[in-house]
Amino acid sequence: PYVSGKTMIEDAWKNGYAIGAFTAHNLETIKAVLLAAEEEQAPIMIQIGQKAINEMGMQPLREAVDSLIAHHQISVPICIHLDHSRKFEQCMEAATRNFQSLMFDGSALPIEDNIRITRAVVEVANALGLGAEGEIGKIGGTEDDITVDEKDAMITTVAEALDFSEATGVDYLAVSIGTAHGVYKTTPELKFDRLSEIREAVKKPIVLHGGSGVPDDQIVEAIKRGVAKINVDTELRKSFLEAVQAHWAEQPEDWILADVMNDGIAAMKATVQQKIRLFGAAGKA
Ligand code: G3H
Ligand code: 13P
Ligand code: ZN
Ligand code: NA
Repeated sequence: PYVSGKTMIEDAWKNGYAIGAFTAHNLETIKAVLLAAEEEQAPIMIQIGQKAINEMGMQPLREAVDSLIAHHQISVPICIHLDHSRKFEQCMEAATRNFQSLMFDGSALPIEDNIRITRAVVEVANALGLGAEGEIGKIGGTEDDITVDEKDAMITTVAEALDFSEATGVDYLAVSIGTAHGVYKTTPELKFDRLSEIREAVKKPIVLHGGSGVPDDQIVEAIKRGVAKINVDTELRKSFLEAVQAHWAEQPEDWILADVMNDGIAAMKATVQQKIRLFGAAGKA
C-alpha cells in the first residue's frame, strides 16, 4: 500500500485536508500509527526521524514497517518519510531503502548550501518518483525562553519562501510560521497572514512542523490556508508514556512487558486517530 509522498500530499492539498506525518520510534509506535490509519481508513505518513535512526538504525525501522503492514494486513495508503535529514548521503540511503518521501533539512545552513543540497535531493527524488520536502526559515526547538523579537525573526518571509521553492523545486515546503518542536509553555499563535501570502506566492503544499500542542482551531485554519502535511511527534510519545506511567501507578509490579506496552500502544493509537479526524483525512484512503 506504499504511495509516493508527492501523490499523497498533492491529493490532500487539492482536496482541502492534511496528511498526518506521525513520528514512529520503534515496533510499538509503528504499530500504533498503522492500526490508527487502518481504523480511520486514512492515508498517512510514518516519519522516521534522526533520534530513532540513531538508536534503532534506519533499516531495522524500515523493515519493521514492512513486517507490521503485512502482519496486520494494512490496506490504506502509507508513505514512509525521512524526517529532518541533515545529510545528502542519508537522504540517498533512504531512497535506496524504499522510503517514499525525503526531507533534507538545511535550515541551519547558509541559504546557498540549503538550496544546493536540497536541489540535489529533489533531483534524485523526482527521478525515482519520491516526494521531496525542504525547509526554509528556522522552526523553533523547545525554545520558549527566547524573546518575541527573536521568535518573529524566525518567521519565513514570502521572498525567501518563493526563492527557495523555485530554486530547489521541492514538492512540499516546510516554513516557520509560529510553531515549534516539542511542548509549548504558552499557546502558540500561528501567523496566518504570512501563511496565506506564502501559499499565494509558492502555490505548493505547505508543511507544518511542531504540530504537537497547536490548538485544534488553529490546525483547521492552517489547513484552509494551504497546509497539507502536519508533523506530530511529541503528543504521540506523551500519550504512550503517560499510559505506561498510569499502568505502573496501578500495578507497580507488572513486569509483563507486552501488557505494559499494550496500554501505551492503545493510548497512542487513540491520539493518532483523533489527529487524523482533525486533519480531515479520515475516510480518504
Ligand atoms: O553534498 C552533500 C553532502 O552532505 C556534503 O554537504 O556540500 O555541505 O559539504 P556539503
Ligand atoms: P512536535 O514534536 O512538536 O509534534 O513536532 C514534530 C515535528 O515537527 C517532527 O518533524
Ligand atoms: Zn519537524
Ligand atoms: Na510542537
